[in-house]
Amino acid sequence: MSAEPTVHLNGEWLPLSQARVPVLDRGFIFGDGVYEVIPVYGRRPFRLPQHLARLARSLEAIRLEPPLDAPGWTALIDELLARNPGGDRSVYLQVTRGPASRDHAFPRAPAPTVFAMVSPLNPPDPALLEEGAAAVVLEDIRWSRCDIKSVNLLANILLRQQAVERGALEAILVRDGQVTEGAASNVFIVRDGEIRTPPTSRFMLPGITRDLVLELARAHGLPCREAPVSEAELRGADEIWITSSTREVLPVTRLDGRPVGGGPGPVWRRIMPLYQEYKRNLREAAEA
Ligand code: PDD
Repeated sequence: MSAEPTVHLNGEWLPLSQARVPVLDRGFIFGDGVYEVIPVYGRRPFRLPQHLARLARSLEAIRLEPPLDAPGWTALIDELLARNPGGDRSVYLQVTRGPASRDHAFPRAPAPTVFAMVSPLNPPDPALLEEGAAAVVLEDIRWSRCDIKSVNLLANILLRQQAVERGALEAILVRDGQVTEGAASNVFIVRDGEIRTPPTSRFMLPGITRDLVLELARAHGLPCREAPVSEAELRGADEIWITSSTREVLPVTRLDGRPVGGGPGPVWRRIMPLYQEYKRNLREAAEA
């Protein structure tokens, strides 16, 4: 990727440093917008239809007319990737309700802001995969529409920062005694050989990586279930994983400073190669 990436802003292509959004943009003033992060392996966006479907659902949930349909987004992403050649990358898409005089109610004729950029996607640090990550358990202080991938991430930021200040990589969030997700990831546990992840709800983002992990587990006969996970079950788990587009499937081996299992566990050691194989197949298909 060249030093100065080319980004897309409202139909224009320009160097990242020259992209400007008006200060009255409702994304800036209110956090009134939604986004997606889509990994790209080789030239192949990972699970693009699923990411675009989630973007469409987020836009519908905030009652914003989609500025592009799926073929329109696909063409935009293809051009973005062509203008920013490179290996593994991630595409960031953001749509806001656009600039308008400051009023909480929607503007009568919104002109949405559409922004897209590419960032490098670094593979997980081998040392982290070897040792596993530290996480802390925090109260989920967010709202009750966490299924919307909103750019309004203040609570997630505060929670993740608390985790970092306690020497951890992620905060695992608990609402009314039940695990919801991580500050920027979904959560899986393994107990007695069974993989479990909380069912989708308004209190968590339906992660694309989460879905793939469930699919891989089912396809390879690993027992797994979408069912509530209590804080006590989390704390007593044999294995804990967090999943996201950028973290892939990461084992958590310390929770609030206490060891989880004796390092990355045997079920994670089954899932991880399957995930890597899926990525490799995408890359090879892109090269064919
Ligand atoms: N975040 N839950 C939250 C709150 C997230 O922010 C994310 C990902 C996930 C995992 O979703 P997926 O598997 O589709 O990436 C779950 C992205 C990577 C981010 O904000 O950068």
